[in-house]
Parts: sequence; C-alpha cells; structure tokens
Amino acid sequence: MSEIGTDITKAGKLLQHGELVAIPTETVYGLAGNAMNESAILKIYTAKNRPKFDPLIAHVDSFDKVKKLVETIPRQALLLAEKLWPGPLTILLEKKKSVPDLLTSGLKRMAVRIPNHPLTLELLSQLDFPLAAPSANPFGYVSPTSAQHVQNQLGERVPYILDGGACSVGLESTIIGFEEDEVVVYRLGGTRVEAIEEVVGKVRLKVNVSSNPAAPGMLKSHYSPGRKVLLGDIDENLKRFDPQTTGIISFSKPYDVPAQNMAMLSASEDLNEAGRNIFSALRKMDQSQIKVILAEYLPNEGLGRAINDRLRRAAV
Ligand code: TXA
Ligand code: MG
Repeated sequence: MSEIGTDITKAGKLLQHGELVAIPTETVYGLAGNAMNESAILKIYTAKNRPKFDPLIAHVDSFDKVKKLVETIPRQALLLAEKLWPGPLTILLEKKKSVPDLLTSGLKRMAVRIPNHPLTLELLSQLDFPLAAPSANPFGYVSPTSAQHVQNQLGERVPYILDGGACSVGLESTIIGFEEDEVVVYRLGGTRVEAIEEVVGKVRLKVNVSSNPAAPGMLKSHYSPGRKVLLGDIDENLKRFDPQTTGIISFSKPYDVPAQNMAMLSASEDLNEAGRNIFSALRKMDQSQIKVILAEYLPNEGLGRAINDRLRRAAV
C-alpha cells in the first residue's frame, strides 16, 4: 500500500531522490519521476509495465522551463501556450540533446505540458527538473481519476500518492504537434479541438488508431475495462442480453438493469460532466457479474469527441 496525503515537501524529497510519486492533474493522475534522470524514467516504465517504445510527457509549471528543454518553439505553439496553458494540452516540440532519449523513446520531439492543478503546480515550482508522468495505471488499463484509483492498481509500486481530489477534466490531455505549417492533433483529449482552432485556425486530425506512428501509445487497444464493449443503440442491443449480467454506459438515460450495472454520464447532457465521469464508468463495469457492456456514442463535439474516442478504443 502507498501512503496517500497532501504533503508537497515529502513528495518533492522523494522525487529528488529519484523515487516515484503519483500526482494529481486536472486530466488524470500521473505516475511521476524526474524526467532528466534515466533511472527514475526506467522505474516509471517498470511500474506501469509499459513498453519502452511508448514515450512519456514532461510536466513543468512555467513557459520559461519549457524553453530550456526544447530547441525551437513555432509561433503557433506560442499562441496556443499563451491561451491554453496551464491546461489539458500537450505539445510536441523538438527536444534539446540534454533531454534523455529514454523519455522520448528515441524520438526527436518531446511531449510537454503545464498541467492545471494547484497542488502539482506548487510541487513543480519547487523542483528544478521536469516531471515525466504517464497516466498512473498499468499499461493498457483505464486512466485513474482519483487517488484511490491509483492506490487500487499501483499501490504496491509507488511510495507516495499526492491526493488532489477528483480530476476536474477526467480525460487525458489533447496532444498536438506541427508538421510543416500545420497543427496536427494526435490524441483527442481534455482540450476541445474547437478551442485550438479558435487560436490557430483549422487543424488536421491524425487520431486514427492504425495510422499514427507519432503517438505510439495510441496504436494499441487502451482503456479496456476487461469486458466486451458493444457500441451502438443501447435499447436495441439490450434486447439480446440478460439485464442481470449486462453493464450499461449511457449518456443521459437510465436503463432497466441492476443499479450497480448502470453508469449514466450526465443526466443534463453536459459533455464536460460526461468527461469527468467516463473513466469511473468504465471502472464500474469491471465487476464479475457483468459479462458485456453496452455503450453509446455521445454528440461528436467538444469533449464528446474525446469521450467517443475512448469508447471506441475500449470496444476494440
Ligand atoms: O493528461 C495527460 O496527458 C496525462 C497526465 C498525467 O498529464 N498523461 C498521460 O500520459 O496521459 P500517457 O503516457 O498515458 O499518454 C501519453 C501519450 C502516449 O500515447 C505517448 O505515446 C504520447 O503521449 N507521447 C509522449 N511523448 C511523445 C513523443 N515524444 N512523441 C509522440 N508521442 C508522444
Ligand atoms: Mg496512459
């Protein structure tokens, strides 16, 4: 079991000694270690059981710290950073030589973001190195949105969990990069595509599971709740299954299945609320009496796009 608490000084000391600490962010909890220390990075890969070809995001608390890590910052990146950081946006930028290749799995670009969580911003401001932090779940499983989720799955592998409460966004960051003059989205997430387009105009989506070598982690089936997920018309699909052993993830409608099998994402059809609830909903479905999960697409706008993306991956 790990210790759960809000002691930033303790978290900082562990990180300075090359140990891991789970940290809260507005998106999901991260499994953090010193991004400039290869042995700390290795501990992250090992604790998560994550293949080393799947690179990690570096987290800092200021734009000045970003500048020290990367070679150049395109104008569009400056505009986006100004508008959307701190926030659920990760930007791929050409890394300096001093940044360990292990962090980026040998890629030229590194992923950076300034997360928007007061406790973690405070912790980062006290450190003179960035924090490498993938989502704090075992590889291939659903991301954690509470300290308890981390405890349940990685409790044996991380000495301290910094408790920042439930994540306010609940979906991982949106990942973008630049190809020639174009802004490219590699992962849909907590920053709405519309919000990015308001700053830089039309972007290109490259979020297809099979054609996306730039974000290697997205190649695999993720977010698996450990059951078969059927995406489509819930009313229709429910006719074919026994309600007692069927789990349901609906947008806003309740269904006639046992309460512990039912997860409704937002009674008021609020996509932000649905974003906060989607990963808990997938976790709720991980119980022995549930044999199949029925889910439906949400409106494909705002956070609905990222939620649909996660549902699609869960259904692979
Ligand atoms: O919201 C988030 O982004 C959370 C919190 C903790 O910040 N972190 C997170 O990390 O979701 P992770 O490791 O679970 O997902 C990061 C994704 C992976 O798919 C990885 O392949 C991609 O980012 N990635 C990281 N560095 C990259 C790089 N240099 N080039 C391309 N893709 C990269
Ligand atoms: Mg992850």
